[in-house]
Amino acid sequence: MFYRLQKYCHLVPGANRGAIYNLQTGKVFSINKGAVHLLSQCEHTAVEDILAPETEKSKPYLNFLDQISAMGLGSLYLDTPPETPAEPLPDQSPTLEFIWLELTSRCNNQCQHCYASSGPAVTDDGVPHERWLALITEARQEGATGLQLIGGEPLLYPRWKELVQRAHSEGYEVIEIFTNATLIDDADIAFFQQYNVCIATTIYADNAATHDLVTKHEGSFAKTMSAVEKILAADIPLRVAAIIMKANEHEVDNIIKLCTDLGVYTAPPDVVRPTGRGDDHEILPESYTRPPIKPPFFTDPESFAKARKYHTCLAGRLAVTSTGEIIPCIFARSQVCGNILTASLKDVLHGQKVQNIWQTTKDQVAKCRDCEYRYACTDCRPHAQGSDPGKKWLACTKGCAYNPYTGKWDEEAAPPNEPPAAPQAAAPPTSRICPYGKKRPQ
Ligand SMILES: C[S@@+](CC[C@H](N)C(=O)[O-])C[C@H]1O[C@@H](n2cnc3c(N)ncnc32)[C@H](O)[C@@H]1O
Ligand code: SF4
Ligand code: SF4
Repeated sequence: MFYRLQKYCHLVPGANRGAIYNLQTGKVFSINKGAVHLLSQCEHTAVEDILAPETEKSKPYLNFLDQISAMGLGSLYLDTPPETPAEPLPDQSPTLEFIWLELTSRCNNQCQHCYASSGPAVTDDGVPHERWLALITEARQEGATGLQLIGGEPLLYPRWKELVQRAHSEGYEVIEIFTNATLIDDADIAFFQQYNVCIATTIYADNAATHDLVTKHEGSFAKTMSAVEKILAADIPLRVAAIIMKANEHEVDNIIKLCTDLGVYTAPPDVVRPTGRGDDHEILPESYTRPPIKPPFFTDPESFAKARKYHTCLAGRLAVTSTGEIIPCIFARSQVCGNILTASLKDVLHGQKVQNIWQTTKDQVAKCRDCEYRYACTDCRPHAQGSDPGKKWLACTKGCAYNPYTGKWDEEAAPPNEPPAAPQAAAPPTSRICPYGKKRPQ
């Protein structure tokens, strides 16, 4: 008699417990050490050679196998069992999908938390206009279908419209401008309509006092809101980001209500990330926190396969700063992979540094590498790095209360090292989406 997990179920052992990933339903089930050991043995040994079927001691183990069979996770085979399925891996290596172009680090705001340390006095822009134009073509040739113009304040870049026109003629599917929206005039609105430009902007409160306190620009709230109204009236796709720090943590519900009243999509407000001026304990919110990492975890065949070989967020994306540096993400400012002033995008893209970053998996990350949830749990490397006292790229995500070495969450009691217990079921996913450059919500 043999026991096998179904071909769509995968056992992922951790240091103490383990998990069964059901790629058909997307549910991830936590199982204890005894269960992991039993299922691992079953992969190559007959059940009767592992357990003496008629004994008291074997009962809980057989019960466990019955339970997971009833849950559709595995089956008993009287004869020859099916082959253990091969490890699922992505069909092909990722190609460039999305690129951020930080046109300028100048800005008419000077926000307390700005990761790009932008402001009116910053003058380190160094990419010639012709190079931006060529880069848009190069990125498209490498496969990019999404492009975001960002900054600093991208509308302070004098010839931004020509860049949009180039992206439009190259056939980008999504052209987004991430702007503080204080400089948008009626001609810009008509231009956005003509070239199918989507807009992302940021609101820090439902009132000028708090919003302007964050932006350090008196009058910025009024200008941003006036542009938001014009954008909506013109039916231009708009999404609003909300970033929370000490100065505006009392505004979370107000921002959500404002966006709901306007009928605008906003991702759950993000807490300021420890990069640039944001790397300052003084501005961190005191009570508002990011959603904690905790079960239920959820997966699907594509993301499970990708998570085993590539970084689920970074792979396929790059950013170029206003000094020409190529970095993996707008927040990963220390991970410089090359410079478009001295190299082609293609050479940098296929170079070792980008490939290493794209291939960063949780199998390399401190603590996560020993955790059974590592192929379902989300990951923001720049956030983990920025929060780490030693600024280590492979540091574990701050705020994870799980200890894979004891199998405990926070103060919870350690699961006893005993025979397998019924797996803990999972429910649909919690949303922890990076709001800065993913595909737009539908
Ligand atoms: C750098 S801005 C550039 C676009 C434009 N100037 C704006 O503010 O909307 C892009 C987004 O990053 C957010 N941001 C800036 N610094 C941040 C930080 N340290 N942590 C999290 N988000 C940050 C801003 O609030 C804004 O939503
Ligand atoms: S967050 Fe945006 S608006 Fe604020 S200073 Fe930075 S670039 Fe300017
Ligand atoms: S952050 Fe790491 S240790 Fe925590 S649950 Fe996710 S994979 Fe496990």
